[in-house]
Order: sequence, then structure tokens, then C-alpha cells
Amino acid sequence: MNTKGQVITCKAAVAWEHGKPMSIEDVEVAPPKAHEVRIKICASGVCHTDWGMLYEAGRRVKHWPFPMILGHEGSGVVESVGPGVSKFSPGDKVIPLIVPQCGECDRCLSPKTNLCKTNWHNSLRGVLADGTSRITCKGRQVNQFMGISTFSEYTVVSDIGVTKIRDDATLDRVCLLGCGVSTGYGAALNTAKVEPGSTCVVFGLGAVGLATVMGCKAAGAARIIAVDINPDKFVKAKVFGATECVNPKDHSKPIQEVLVEMTNGGADFVLECVGNVAVMRTALDSCRDAWGVCVVVGWTDVGEMSLLPMALLMGRTLKGTYFGGWKSVESIPKLVDDYMKKKLMLDEFVTHTLALDHVNEAFQLLQNGKSIRTIIKM
Ligand SMILES: NC(=O)c1ccc[n+]([C@@H]2O[C@H](COP(=O)([O-])OP(=O)(O)OC[C@H]3O[C@@H](n4cnc5c(N)ncnc54)[C@H](O)[C@@H]3O)[C@@H](O)[C@H]2O)c1
Ligand SMILES: [Zn+2]
Ligand SMILES: [Zn+2]
Repeated sequence: MNTKGQVITCKAAVAWEHGKPMSIEDVEVAPPKAHEVRIKICASGVCHTDWGMLYEAGRRVKHWPFPMILGHEGSGVVESVGPGVSKFSPGDKVIPLIVPQCGECDRCLSPKTNLCKTNWHNSLRGVLADGTSRITCKGRQVNQFMGISTFSEYTVVSDIGVTKIRDDATLDRVCLLGCGVSTGYGAALNTAKVEPGSTCVVFGLGAVGLATVMGCKAAGAARIIAVDINPDKFVKAKVFGATECVNPKDHSKPIQEVLVEMTNGGADFVLECVGNVAVMRTALDSCRDAWGVCVVVGWTDVGEMSLLPMALLMGRTLKGTYFGGWKSVESIPKLVDDYMKKKLMLDEFVTHTLALDHVNEAFQLLQNGKSIRTIIKM
């Protein structure tokens, strides 16, 4: 059936209010407007940030405007394109992006950053460039988390916030490159710029932390110390390249002291993949003086991190990363190639696969530390 130009009615997981499970609803997805692309979503990873929007609002993340459809780590096929779209055609395999790459703004023209700010303000409000979302349910506008919403059978995104990938890409795996895996992998390679022979510490071994471990290994780190308070994560950490695993709960001393001792003065690179301001401080304190680099990867937009200025005076560098520093449109297809050529692991992140109507179970698995990534298959 040709759906171009028509409103599509489909299933989606609607988050009506924070703190409450999502409910599976029939939603209406409007046709794409100018410079927009409507996508049939095939698969979506479930990221901590999705869960956080629903269950940590006000504590770790800001309140986003509900009702909202979460999901931002997805893959799919273009169903139709709006006026003025030249780079996409129906049938193209694509990954929506949590940061756009317009290719024209000062950020896009600079090699120093991936933080294209075009449409950014709208994305943070859960709407597209014209200030509205394309999805409605029961007569109400439903906001699109990050301007994306992959917990829906169809969605509409801006044409600068989506990238075309190769035709033979395995959609239920490469969706992970839409957020968590690219973020961690790039945090090590692009932001920390981990060096061969170096000693690295990674705090938090969810998909983001494990991808960070994978990035440290790819960069040639000699020691990769993986830290988590959930020891169930250590088996996977070794698979991705961790040389040692440490559980802070096994030590009576503060973990930064343990790590500084283990590394004879601190690690060269420390990456925080938890999203907890206390852990961020601990990560900085686990860095070697003179040249240690600490990268904040975990997300919080409400907490404040404390630090001793002397830690910086003594030569440590504190940095943060968003989406691993990747210039999104041009980089993600290359990471898809790397996966298809078996140069990058993705299968190993997937612990569960569930249908859309079980999406709340995926949140429970993540919350209980039982999953790395659940793939929601449409
Ligand atoms: N910077 C970005 O662009 C970006 C992108 C995606 C996700 N994130 C953020 O990255 C973080 C990780 O995401 P994820 O999907 O891997 O989450 P996750 O929940 O799967 O993993 C977090 C891990 O941290 C561990 N942890 C909790 N407290 C700890 C502590 N005190 N010390 C050590 N480990 C601890 C947990 O046991 C868990 O294994 C989240 O904050 C998420 O919002 C940031
Ligand atoms: Zn730009
Ligand atoms: Zn994410």
C-alpha cells in the first residue's frame, strides 16, 4: 500500500507522564514536512537515557515535556520524504541521530567539534524544526524525544538528523550505533584520544562503558581497568578488552585510592560512564597528575560536580563528550562498515530481544542491572 502523503496509524509506546510505565497506543504519524524524512523503524536499542527520562526526572535529568515517545537508538527504512529532501529516497536504510550534522554551521565547518546546534533547541523540547511533533495520540500532540522517537513503528525526523547506511546492514544490530556504542567507542578514540601502551580506567559497564572499553582496546591501551558495583558486568567487560575488573564494594578504602595504588600514581585516561556526579569526581581523582585525562561520558543535566582546582593545576584535563565526538552523518555509516567487516563488535552488547509491547520489561531489565542492551524489534 502506498502511504506517501497519508497519515499512518501505527503502534507506539507512549510515555504519558514520568514515573509511570509507557503504554502501547495507536498513534497517528503525519507525513513529513519540508526537509523531513518518515521512517519505518525496524529496531531500537534501549539506552539508560530513555529510562532516565521516565524514572530519574528531577533527580538526574531535567523534566522533559510529556507525553512523549522515547527511544533514540534506532534503525529503519525510509518510507517517504518531504519537499526539498535530496539525500534520501524510500527504501533507504537509515539511522536517526541524536546530534545532527547540517554541514553548514560554524560547528559543522570546524574540525574541533561534532556539536551541530541546528534544531538543537527544538530537539530538547521534543519537537521538529517548525516547533511541533509529527505524532499525535487521542487528539494530543506527543513529543518526540530528541526529535526522534524510535519506540514507534513509524516516526518523522529532520533530514539533517539521519544518516543513510549500506543496504546490507543488519538493522537489529546497527541500531546500537545510534547512541550507546558510538558514544563509548568515540569517547575513548575521539575525546580521550587514548594512546597505545597507556593505562585506562572505565567506570560503569553498561553498553556505553563496554563500548568505551572496546575503544580503549582499539586504541592500543596496555591496561584497561573496568569498574562497576555490579560484578555481573565483569564477564562482558573481559570480552570487550578489560584486563582487570574492580568492584568498589570489595574495598574498604575509597576506590580512587585503590586505583591510584594499582596504577602507581593514577591512570593516564579515566572515563566515567555512569552519569553520577560523585563518580565523576572519583574518576578525576583516579587520574595521574601531569597528564591524566578524565572524560565525562555519563549524562546528568541537574547535578553539579565538585573538584579541587589543584587537581587541574597539577596537569589533569577534564573533558566531556556527547555522542563520542563523532560528526554524526559522515561517521556512523563508517562505523556500520566496521561492524559489517567484523572490525567492531555489536552482537556482544545484545542480551535481550523483545517486541514493542514488552518495552517496559526492557526498562526493568536495565534498571535491575540484568541487561546490557535490549533490542526492541518492531
Ligand atoms: N554522553 C553521551 O552522549 C551519552 C550517550 C548515551 C548515554 N549516556 C549516558 O551514559 C551513561 C551510561 O549509559 P548506559 O546505557 O551504559 O547505562 P547502564 O545503566 O546500562 O550502565 C550504567 C552502569 O553503571 C554502573 N554503576 C552505577 N553506579 C556505579 C558506581 N557508583 N560505580 C561504578 N559503576 C556504577 C551500573 O551498575 C551499570 O552497569 C548514562 O548516564 C547515560 O545517560 C551519555
Ligand atoms: Zn551544523
Ligand atoms: Zn542513548
